Amino acid sequence: MPVSLHSTGKASFDDIYDRPDPADYYRRLAELDYRIPELARPHFERLIESYRSEVGADPTVLDIGCSYGVNAAMLRYDTTVQHLAEHYRGGDTAARIARDRDRLAARDRQPNVRFIGMDASAPALAYASASGLLHEVVHADLESHEPTEEQRRVLGSADLVVSTGCVGYVTDRTLLRIVRAHGQRLPWMAHFVLRMYEYEPVAERLAELGYRTRRMPGTFKQRRFASPDEQLQVLNTLSAKGIDTADLEQEGWLHAQLYISLPESVAARGILPE
Ligand SMILES: C[S@@+](CC[C@H](N)C(=O)[O-])C[C@H]1O[C@@H](n2cnc3c(N)ncnc32)[C@H](O)[C@@H]1O
Repeated sequence: MPVSLHSTGKASFDDIYDRPDPADYYRRLAELDYRIPELARPHFERLIESYRSEVGADPTVLDIGCSYGVNAAMLRYDTTVQHLAEHYRGGDTAARIARDRDRLAARDRQPNVRFIGMDASAPALAYASASGLLHEVVHADLESHEPTEEQRRVLGSADLVVSTGCVGYVTDRTLLRIVRAHGQRLPWMAHFVLRMYEYEPVAERLAELGYRTRRMPGTFKQRRFASPDEQLQVLNTLSAKGIDTADLEQEGWLHAQLYISLPESVAARGILPE
């Protein structure tokens, strides 16, 4: 099947975002060595730990663009995309839900953390709820709408907001609506963002609300390019922005960067490693 491309040249996987279960999602992404959720996991874990020691309680974690509960699966199972492709391989949707429920009942690495997720895909959220991976879900596209009162209540309960593979689909419009949802308290945030998307304008808007944002060192492999055509178009997009792709995208992988945004008062206590 030809791979369709977004305007940035990045391949589109929209057709696997709204299936009744995650089997095709993980199978297809495992073929491309998609790995940003598993590379993100230790960073999200560290933030959960920092939150615990700062606040003295377990956080509620909101995953934006959570799909089938991807980052909850990473954190609760300590797994990889390749292993999840295997985990979801056989059986029908009911069997996959039962396997997830059994696995969570047998061993949950984050039993005291409440996981919530937001996505524009209703079937993906339905799966994430039914499997028990997410405790609460919000079906919304905050690019085009303000949250309803009920959505605001759930989003406003987040202490830590994370994402992988989502910024780009969502912009500062969504992120600002989320951080304003509580009305008083600002959640901590950590987003893995492909290098072709600019986070600095988001960071500036967040600074007006009282956030300090730091880009963490290094880059993180997101996945292999889906085709030579995708690679060429993404290289063009990046070089048009003046971004050097040597040793990174030129080697065949999309690369992301990690941005952590903390409320001023928290950032001032220096909880992030230098
Ligand atoms: C590339 S997938 C990433 C899924 C998951 N975070 C991961 O890393 O595997 C992008 C997700 O963003 C969701 N999405 C796209 N546009 C959105 C929007 N406006 N608001 C919320 N979610 C959106 C899609 O439904 C899809 O689940």
